[in-house]
Amino acid sequence: MSKPFVSLIIFIMGTMIGFLISKWLEVGSLRGRWLEVGSLRGRYPEEVPGQDLLQGLKLHWMPANGSLPIRTHYSKPDIGQIPRNEVMILTPWLAPIVWEGTFNSDILKEDYQQKNYRIGLTVSAIGKYIKLLKKFLESAERYFMKEGMVNYYVFTDSPDEVKALNLEISRTLRIITVPEYSNWEQAVLGRMEVLKNQTELLFQKEVDYLVSLDTDVVMLNPIGVEILGDLVSVIHPGFYHSQRKNLPYERRPASRAFIPEDEGDFYYQANFFLGTVQRIYHLTKTCYEGIQIDKANGIQARVFEESHFNKYLVYNKPTKVLSPEYIWSNSLGSPKDIKIKRVNHGDKHF
Ligand SMILES: *[C@@H]1O[C@H](CO)[C@@H](O)[C@H](O)[C@H]1NC(C)=O
Ligand SMILES: *[C@@H]1O[C@H](CO)[C@@H](O)[C@H](O)[C@H]1NC(C)=O
Repeated sequence: MSKPFVSLIIFIMGTMIGFLISKWLEVGSLRGRWLEVGSLRGRYPEEVPGQDLLQGLKLHWMPANGSLPIRTHYSKPDIGQIPRNEVMILTPWLAPIVWEGTFNSDILKEDYQQKNYRIGLTVSAIGKYIKLLKKFLESAERYFMKEGMVNYYVFTDSPDEVKALNLEISRTLRIITVPEYSNWEQAVLGRMEVLKNQTELLFQKEVDYLVSLDTDVVMLNPIGVEILGDLVSVIHPGFYHSQRKNLPYERRPASRAFIPEDEGDFYYQANFFLGTVQRIYHLTKTCYEGIQIDKANGIQARVFEESHFNKYLVYNKPTKVLSPEYIWSNSLGSPKDIKIKRVNHGDKHF
């Protein structure tokens, strides 16, 4: 072969390789953006309720840092391995049910750390329940989303009393003053309104996910990013093996919380729920409106706000369900299918 011919071949090959490398780099650098756009679209399909309510609200998402190679080390998932064989781990509408043994928190954390979501943990501390706040927050500091960007929001009718607790908290804590309710029932009904209002004012600017919890719970074990999802509810530990007819749904058609006898999936406990700010906004707004209509009609739903909450979730299915391991109560003993008690609820030592 002549020298010029070899040079030509080398020149053509070099150009092709250069071109391929340039395209490859482009694809690599676009990856973050595509992931972002694709996932946001997946998160907010057109028909998602609440889309029109908080226009323009997007998840805060920092794309993966391209200069850090992503490595994930863990044993390969085995398709023949059943994570739990005695409990349902997927609802009939294909939402995962989170039990101990069904997830690998290292994989989930890796994914979370690339996205850096901001999480708001709201807690209601009203009246004598303020006395439980210290214990609650201490347990949250220890167990709640260890590596996460978490803000605490305390709803209280007595901000001075909360300040007097001199809480030693490593994360941002905001105190949100709410009206003085005459009793606990009014306070839990009012919480839907408070969450709705504060989403309009504050949460949509500050966080991506909202988690709502009661003060009379204490976290006993880690609660991590496995709980995150668009709309997430917890199966009530007192009814998780109950038949439909024994679930305490509101069955009177006069209430807005009415669920017909032949409908309903699980009974969810309203003292722990979470989701994207947008989904929680739609949930709390709908429940608030139902509660207002009931009030005008002189009817109170069977289990207060929890009845409205359950009604909502029959027709707006949760995208992830947490097992009763996430809201256990020591009074219910230690059945075999509860492998870990992540939360204890209802120990009211004031
Ligand atoms: C990406 O990570 C590297 C190494 O930790 C750091 O030096 C760099 O500033 C990061 N870049 C961005 C854009 O965050
Ligand atoms: C919620 O917002 C509405 C409208 O701004 C206001 O009238 C109402 O008092 C607020 N409720 C609470 C509990 O903050």
